[in-house]
Amino acid sequence: MACNAIIILGASGDLTKKKLVPALNMLYRRGELADCFLVVGEGRSALTDEQFRARFAIADDFGRLLSYHQGIKGLKKYLASRGQFSRLIFFFALPPEAYAPTAQELVAEGFGREVSIIIEKPFGSDYASAAALNRELVSFFNESQIFRNDHYLAKEAVQNILVFRFANSVFGPVWNGGFIESIQINACEEYTASDRAQYFDKAGIVRDMVQNHLMQLLCLVAMEPPDSLGAEDIRGRKMDVLRCLAVRECRRAQYEGYRAEKGVAPDSSTETFAELSLSIDNDRWRGTPVYIRTGKALHRTGTEIGIRFRALPKSLFNESGAVSSNLIVFNIQPSPGIIVKLSSKNPGTDIRLTDAQMTFCYSDTFAAQIPDAYQKLLLDAVRGDHTLFVSSEETELSWRVLDDIIDKGPCGTYAKGSLPPRGLPVDWIDFDRYATECAPE
Ligand code: BG6
Repeated sequence: MACNAIIILGASGDLTKKKLVPALNMLYRRGELADCFLVVGEGRSALTDEQFRARFAIADDFGRLLSYHQGIKGLKKYLASRGQFSRLIFFFALPPEAYAPTAQELVAEGFGREVSIIIEKPFGSDYASAAALNRELVSFFNESQIFRNDHYLAKEAVQNILVFRFANSVFGPVWNGGFIESIQINACEEYTASDRAQYFDKAGIVRDMVQNHLMQLLCLVAMEPPDSLGAEDIRGRKMDVLRCLAVRECRRAQYEGYRAEKGVAPDSSTETFAELSLSIDNDRWRGTPVYIRTGKALHRTGTEIGIRFRALPKSLFNESGAVSSNLIVFNIQPSPGIIVKLSSKNPGTDIRLTDAQMTFCYSDTFAAQIPDAYQKLLLDAVRGDHTLFVSSEETELSWRVLDDIIDKGPCGTYAKGSLPPRGLPVDWIDFDRYATECAPE
């Protein structure tokens, strides 16, 4: 029987322990892995299979699928000794500088067109380095063999954006600049950068979060309807957005005490917070600004997307101009839901308007637990489905948008645990107010 195998390169790291093995274990438990499946950890250390398995908290017999191989040399022979594989997927749980040399090593070991490789971000550190990495990788593998991971795309509430937009006829006609005043994306984290300071200090929040995750969210909100749900059509429409996207302004700030952290340069000017205003120069969105705000060591953790509709004309119920605009807020995490803010009549004998809200919480509607993004990504890679992975062109286009502003301009400061004061003239949606709508009691 032909089997599938995932080989985790650099399996001794945190990603394998925290995300990959638990995700594979869960897929196994739900019967979503093929009957014949192998998970091979690869690394520099000499470990026995038992020692490798002992690193994970596995409560069922999933452990029997796990084995370990030291180094890439000899891997081909080792796999041949374990069975016949129709799909071999190499997950690069490696530092980015190792991507191209490792791809070369795999080819030297005899792996060719039959394998797929999954690569984590960061994918380059600017346009030139991303383009160079793409060129190197395609000299070893076809684009169809390369899966560039952006785990935000596999988050359940992110996948629902396209469903919400294109499966509900009520939103289609108003999803454009004629009705929508602004698109706002807000991604806050309470955590500091301290556990990955060495990486983070070279990156900063714009590279770490905006170039990939938040640009992808924006693409899903702003793209034209794809012709099909196929990877090429969806990726094509996302790229159309990136081609029209430009940064107008960017404000950067760093939390106080960041420079004292281990791994951070004492004179670092790396931003841990950024506020950007962008424009999309196409027929649908011309005149509708996009705002993105993200940072570490902020007052709370949560990701939201807000769509603010244009104010009602000053007529009928809004002669004084006081009626607030409609809003749609997508709570992506930690407690996913969608909130629609409306105006309603306040009960009584006269006509007074008040804000009302319709709230859809995943936790109230769906009994099933929301799967972690890595479960979906690994399964899609096994199935060869590229839809939730980023193409070479997409990565390059999104770097292009940011190339001129990255690392540029002054970097202010803010107190740890606080949301920095507004730096750009943005009328931010009060996301804090909506963030807890679907939180467990
Ligand atoms: C990673 C970034 O890609 O995404 C981290 O490197 C960030 O800095 C993380 O914390 C956020 O992911 P999530 O799924 O926790 O929102």
